[in-house]
Amino acid sequence: MIVTNIGRLVGIDQPARRRGHEMDILPGLDNAWLKVENGLVADYGPMDTLPDVGMEETVNARGGYILPSFCDSHTHIVYAGTRDGEFLDKIHGLSYEEIARRGGGILNSADRLHLTSEEELFEQSMQRVREIIGFGTGSVEIKSGYGLTLADELKMLRVIARIAESTPLRVVATFLGAHAVGRAYGSDIDGYVAHVCRDMIPAVAAEGLAQYVDVFCDRGFFTPDHTEQILECGARHGLRGKIHANELAVSGGVEVGVKHAALSVDHLERAEEPQLRLLGQSETVATMLPGASFFLGMPYGDARAAIDAGATVALASDYNPGSSPSGNMRFVASLGAVKMKLTPEQALNATTLNGAVAMGLDSGTLNRGKRADFILTEPMPSLTYLLYAYQTPLIRQVFLNGKAQ
Ligand code: NIG
Ligand code: FE
Repeated sequence: MIVTNIGRLVGIDQPARRRGHEMDILPGLDNAWLKVENGLVADYGPMDTLPDVGMEETVNARGGYILPSFCDSHTHIVYAGTRDGEFLDKIHGLSYEEIARRGGGILNSADRLHLTSEEELFEQSMQRVREIIGFGTGSVEIKSGYGLTLADELKMLRVIARIAESTPLRVVATFLGAHAVGRAYGSDIDGYVAHVCRDMIPAVAAEGLAQYVDVFCDRGFFTPDHTEQILECGARHGLRGKIHANELAVSGGVEVGVKHAALSVDHLERAEEPQLRLLGQSETVATMLPGASFFLGMPYGDARAAIDAGATVALASDYNPGSSPSGNMRFVASLGAVKMKLTPEQALNATTLNGAVAMGLDSGTLNRGKRADFILTEPMPSLTYLLYAYQTPLIRQVFLNGKAQ
């Protein structure tokens, strides 16, 4: 297949990651063609070098842009039911932490998931999967963490595996047993962490159901010491860390994540200069989740300071029923520009290339030889326009593995 008359082909000739002010650069080619073979990017060039098209299928972009599909490195899209009732509580003044302390929040989702069959959980999750494909996501990380018992965590992880098998998305799975303390353990956090390390991680690893391990290291949830125990246990079982840190308070999660070479530390709404400096000196990706800031009315992570510090910054949706009920990565990129004052190049590197790095994937670019996962837009005056006109339906078609979705 050849796509012709591309207004601008964006995200080619990219390095493996962009850190610090390397994120200011997002290479592209105006008035271009793109050739796809066997689901991969075979070649591209300017229209005056268009090869003989012959019998090949052509798609005329008519001036639309092509961008790598989004790489959403932090989601919880496998869940049962919704939490719109708690949304009402928030409207009436309760905070996320108050709802959690009353036994709502994550535990509410765990109760619902427990009562939902695996088949039904798959069906509900697939609706959200289809939704994010339509929004232009091509690679996604999905976490467990609404099971909080061994059986229900495995149920969630099997659903994630089934999503990976039955969709063209590239999916990575993260085990988040330490998302909240399971009901059976009441206030016995240490006992629950011991259960996660002794029983859950070995079982998850033995079944090959996750690549990464996560901990909600924050005020009112798990401490850096718990996090360290879980990261060490995960490492023994081949699971690298991706940590929730500094959403509710300066939690110590960044320090423990970097110490254990976590692939990413995520949230960072309350991260301060010392944490950002640490991230700037490490390989750990600094992932920020502006959709959660938007939905919960929290501060936005200081992405510009993280870039100034030299960090590899990614933006992800955090799609989940409690703090971010949206998986629209274009909106995430717009929030990056509007609220975090990232340039369009920075916001798009953060939602494509660096998101892929935060999943350990090589997606997020249209370099030759990479999987042909891309978005075709309507004609636009500039790349900036995609984030500026943030609700205009500009995504014309989504291609994954070279196939129109
Ligand atoms: O990333 N902060 C912890 N976990 C999720 C929210 C989970 C929930 O409320 O269901 C998050 O925001
Ligand atoms: Fe999260």
